[in-house]
Amino acid sequence: MASEIKTIKVTFTKDGPIMIDGPVIMEGQYGNRTTETKTIFLCRCGGSSNKPFCDGTHKKIDFKG
Ligand code: FES
Repeated sequence: MASEIKTIKVTFTKDGPIMIDGPVIMEGQYGNRTTETKTIFLCRCGGSSNKPFCDGTHKKIDFKG
């Protein structure tokens, strides 16, 4: 039986984070891994205090992108 490949949807939201519809495995530069089964939001404004996740700071700094 062939294995099924799940398509992951990645969305660059207007003036906000990158939205990834899970499940997704995240691996850090030192090999640490976490599995997220839900939709996650990754910061792309650089202002989050909870990187790599968005914490809403993009609204406070009026991020455009
Ligand atoms: S994109 Fe939301 S805090 Fe950076």
